[in-house]
Amino acid sequence: LFTECEHICIVACGTAMHAGLVAQALVKSILHMHIEVQMASEFMYSDPVIDEKTLVIAVSQSGETIDTLEAMKYAKNRGAKCLAIINVKGSSIARESDYVLYTNAGPEIAVASTKAYTTQLAVFYLIVARMAHSRGVFDDAQTQSFVRELQRTPEVMKKVLERRRDIHVVAKKVLGAKDLFMIGRGLDYSILLEGSLKLKEVSYIHSEAYASGELKHGPIALITQDTPVVATVTQEKLMSKELSNIKEVKSRGADVVVFIKESIVGDLAKEYEIFTLPDMQDEFMVLPASVALQLLAYYVSSDKGFDVDKPRNLAKVVTVE
Ligand code: M6R
Repeated sequence: LFTECEHICIVACGTAMHAGLVAQALVKSILHMHIEVQMASEFMYSDPVIDEKTLVIAVSQSGETIDTLEAMKYAKNRGAKCLAIINVKGSSIARESDYVLYTNAGPEIAVASTKAYTTQLAVFYLIVARMAHSRGVFDDAQTQSFVRELQRTPEVMKKVLERRRDIHVVAKKVLGAKDLFMIGRGLDYSILLEGSLKLKEVSYIHSEAYASGELKHGPIALITQDTPVVATVTQEKLMSKELSNIKEVKSRGADVVVFIKESIVGDLAKEYEIFTLPDMQDEFMVLPASVALQLLAYYVSSDKGFDVDKPRNLAKVVTVE
């Protein structure tokens, strides 16, 4: 399956789709393969180009999201091979798929997806390692080193959790906001799409994740002292451009909170409200960053007195199209 496919298409909704966006970046940079991520609800109407050489990966915590299930059936009917990444054992998508990888996150009760997301990421890292090895991109040593870095995740996430009080402090900076922007580039942008969804869901703040470079093409017009900006800076090769985008919003009066990889923080704390993320190799930094952004949403919501586990208007499982 992993050696023969020529093209990958990920279908999913919401947070599961955001996990797919991280996978897309990894597959392109490590495997140099064609990959696309499609919102499952749009998939059938986008005339997707799929055939027997396409590997369709459906991602879902519940395994019951109707949009994702229908997208997978549509792809199967056109000859694609389907792999499902699922949390709930024996669910509809798991049963319908040719192959299943379970995330084993345990029951996720809260409506906002958290551990489902981080375990979906972990499964994608493992898929990338396996594909890279079986396609001859990684030799044994490279595969082992990639997996060893992934195995550091629990220790690194524990460090973020131990510093949760510092995240509570930065959360106070955005508590009063009506509108907020989250900015980053590359993998930082992918992780912010998820961080922004989490904040919207549980705190009811209108939050938009924007690719930093795109900001000047329109939305910077909305930046004022009343629109705080959350930025992530975890990719060393993008750092200087990200910092110059952060300066641009600061000069328009925005309060800026920066989640930055510890080893590259320099003296940035003099200018900005900072939370430092424990170091991993750059392509793994979404893992500590995701927990930090989940905690940000958690503290904003709970400080506003909301029920973090049961946001208004939302259901845990979405079985209507
Ligand atoms: O069960 P699924 O993973 O298929 O659910 C997909 C989305 O409905 C879900 O991720 C939703 O976006 C969450 N409320 C996000 O926290």
